Amino acid sequence: MPDSSEQPTRTSTSDSDWWRQAVVYQVYPRSFADQNGDGIGDLRGVTSRVGYLADLGVDAVWLSPFYPSALADGGYDVDDYRDVDPRLGTLEDFDAMVAALHGAGIKVIVDIVPNHTSDRHAWFRKALDKGPVSEARERYVFREGRGPDGAEPPSDWKSMFGGPAWERVADGQWYLHLFAPEQPDLNWDNPKVHEEFRDILRFWGDRGVDGFRVDVAHGLAKDLSEPLAAAADLHEGLALRGEHPLWDRDDVHDIYREWRRVFEEYDPPLAAVAEAWVHPTRRGRYADPEGLGQAFNFDLLQAPWSAPDFREIIKRNLDDVQQTGTSSTWVLSNHDVVRHATRYGLEGSGRAAAEAWLAAGGRPEQVDRKRGVRRARAATLLILALPGCSYLYQGEELGLHEVGDLPDEARTDPTWFRSGHTHKGRDGCRVPLPWTSHPPSYGFGTDGAHLPQPDWFAAASVQAQRDTEGSTLEMYRQALRLRRRLQGPEELTWEEQTADVVHFARPGGWHCVTNLGTTTVHLSDGEVLLSSGPLDGRQLPPDTTAWLSAT
Ligand code: NOJ
Repeated sequence: MPDSSEQPTRTSTSDSDWWRQAVVYQVYPRSFADQNGDGIGDLRGVTSRVGYLADLGVDAVWLSPFYPSALADGGYDVDDYRDVDPRLGTLEDFDAMVAALHGAGIKVIVDIVPNHTSDRHAWFRKALDKGPVSEARERYVFREGRGPDGAEPPSDWKSMFGGPAWERVADGQWYLHLFAPEQPDLNWDNPKVHEEFRDILRFWGDRGVDGFRVDVAHGLAKDLSEPLAAAADLHEGLALRGEHPLWDRDDVHDIYREWRRVFEEYDPPLAAVAEAWVHPTRRGRYADPEGLGQAFNFDLLQAPWSAPDFREIIKRNLDDVQQTGTSSTWVLSNHDVVRHATRYGLEGSGRAAAEAWLAAGGRPEQVDRKRGVRRARAATLLILALPGCSYLYQGEELGLHEVGDLPDEARTDPTWFRSGHTHKGRDGCRVPLPWTSHPPSYGFGTDGAHLPQPDWFAAASVQAQRDTEGSTLEMYRQALRLRRRLQGPEELTWEEQTADVVHFARPGGWHCVTNLGTTTVHLSDGEVLLSSGPLDGRQLPPDTTAWLSAT
């Protein structure tokens, strides 16, 4: 095997294209590393782990919200877009973190939440103070209620977290919140909102960030004309292709064209990636170079463990990116879904199977944990070999499982509360990371952790896996190093394969073969550079990926 400890130079693309084939590591700051011992991760914690991230070999870090927040939705309820939550640090800590990451050659992407503020945001407080018919209310979506005394919500719209999407205020008006009531939706028909967000983008651009992850990018533009349209189920919007009153409306792209002009004020231009849960045929609009430039593709994250499904998704996405000239994106886990090591350990493997398992109690004994990690590793090597950008979620490099059986009293996710305790929510993938094998908090901080960590975190910890041959952490380290060396133009050639195998080659003769079937597959010529699990000579076992050099 070639020596993968050697540090090849970072991506060969010109600086303004750094994002096209980057490996971006998502940090969920409250659960990453706690430097001040209050049980909540913080920015100094991130700074203290820059060495780890550099050694892992990531190109960029995407930081989930770190802004002041009451945490009604894990920080996606922002009180002030130009500050740091005092529990997480200060703006000076932010600058020091960016400097340390940049010093290690790692770019920084921050999360921006433009669909809604928090209900503690100065704008919303003013909107309540000033009362109906005020300019302050025009920044949000306030309406009179229906019925003789206005006691019925203005429409039947449902919140994504359950329950009505409208909340009544003391003077009788109602405001729209597509997520929690603590997240009032902004009114993007108001030029003041546009102005404010352009300014916020510049605030972080001037502080040196390299780009943005745009939350609910498909939700900003809404049809609010009277009478309000019926929208029985917000989830149906994904299939409606631009005809939904709330999701994925064509005029949302006018906003991103404005943002692009702001991005281009910087050299290199700021990058952006859209979180847009839209029909795959509509994703490209968000990734347009005149708009945000890149969009998450969540297709593999939702797919079952099946070679035909994987092949179809990869082909379609690579075709789609040809249309706009963006690069493709690959995601297996993030802070909103059951971790992929657990998904692949469940019968059915897809996102739906994972949601059902969670709803039924998320019990670890119902997961084939070994198979889950085996498949997770194979899937990871597969996406890392694809042309385009890979987004990794903190802890997946440890093969971490979902903590599905958190005690109910520990749960904090609004879905748990607003679904009448039927949907367990997303806390199980947000449990603070295990850095060492010892309680309390497995090296996350000096004391406790804000969500309870299970005993099995000891064996999954960084300490247990670092320098341990065959560990998932070592596989990620080797893969990221090799990928940097092997990465070439964003091209892929499909190789002849049987039904259960995904086999493609990249320029320079880098081959990736994944066996998603149940019987062993013979590997043809080429040196094995890396594999996600042990090989039997040149036999590739089920649930395994191998990278090979030119055949
Ligand atoms: C998407 C974020 O990823 C999720 O965590 C959040 O709850 C919603 N947007 C609302 O901001």
